[in-house]
Amino acid sequence: QEQFRIEQRKQGLTMNISPINSNAPDFGAEISDIDLKSITKQDFDEVYRAWLTYGVVRIRGQQLNEDELQAFSARFGPLEEIPMGRLPESERAKIKNRYVTQLSNIIKDGKPIGGLGNSEANWHSDMTYVEVPPPASILLGIEIPNEGGDTYFADQGAALESMPKELVDRLLCLSIKHDAAHTSIGKLRPGFEPFDDPRDAPGAEHPAIITHPETGKRALYLGRREWAFIPGLELAASEALLDEIWSYAALSENVWRQQWQPFDLIIWDNRRVLHRRDDFDQNSRRLMKRCQVLNRSA
Ligand code: SIN
Repeated sequence: QEQFRIEQRKQGLTMNISPINSNAPDFGAEISDIDLKSITKQDFDEVYRAWLTYGVVRIRGQQLNEDELQAFSARFGPLEEIPMGRLPESERAKIKNRYVTQLSNIIKDGKPIGGLGNSEANWHSDMTYVEVPPPASILLGIEIPNEGGDTYFADQGAALESMPKELVDRLLCLSIKHDAAHTSIGKLRPGFEPFDDPRDAPGAEHPAIITHPETGKRALYLGRREWAFIPGLELAASEALLDEIWSYAALSENVWRQQWQPFDLIIWDNRRVLHRRDDFDQNSRRLMKRCQVLNRSA
């Protein structure tokens, strides 16, 4: 690690990049001594490299306003408009900033100012129900409750390595259909009809195991458990196989837990990690701002 720092200094970099997770030094890193408002191209390239190398990185103390968060995030690639489901154009026009989503339990003038409320969010990676999901998600903590609301990340490269070879071989020729109709807290998105059979869930199909387009490493690619379906199998067989696969998805040794402080910024790679978050007391306030990056090839 010290050698790594010396190399960084030699290259004129002032930031520090250190593994954050004692369980798995190649999963999760902390970057310090950097101000994302005025980051140079050379420093940004290192942040990008760390994001690819470690799958999830944390940078503390970044008091960014929405414009600054958006400008930093846009260095990863064009940004995804916030998910608007099937909202009519008249409702879309009322949304002020199309690239920064608020996640919050705060109610203002009788209306929630952001998504997800104070609920627990189940394991998922972002927007895998579309054909080309966002590779990077960038989440900035603004207001943080004293207790609860921690976010967890599970390394899907390590999950794959923990599986028996026969299971991996079987998955290599299977894909999974990812449900577009429900959020990570299980709510039906606006504009979708309810259903009670996973085969009826609308959404994109992706291989169960993907090869990361930038690192070349393989990872399980699960999206989320709820309403998933393995095309080509009977429903009961699909459910049983999904349960078996998911039993490897978030083994404790492959999970890193983020306990938030205000102005922590986390960047994760949706092609390599799943994430989930704890619920928290509705009487406390939690406000997060998030940008998502469109696939570069889109
Ligand atoms: C999410 O994307 O599931 C939200 C993460 C969080 O609120 O910590």
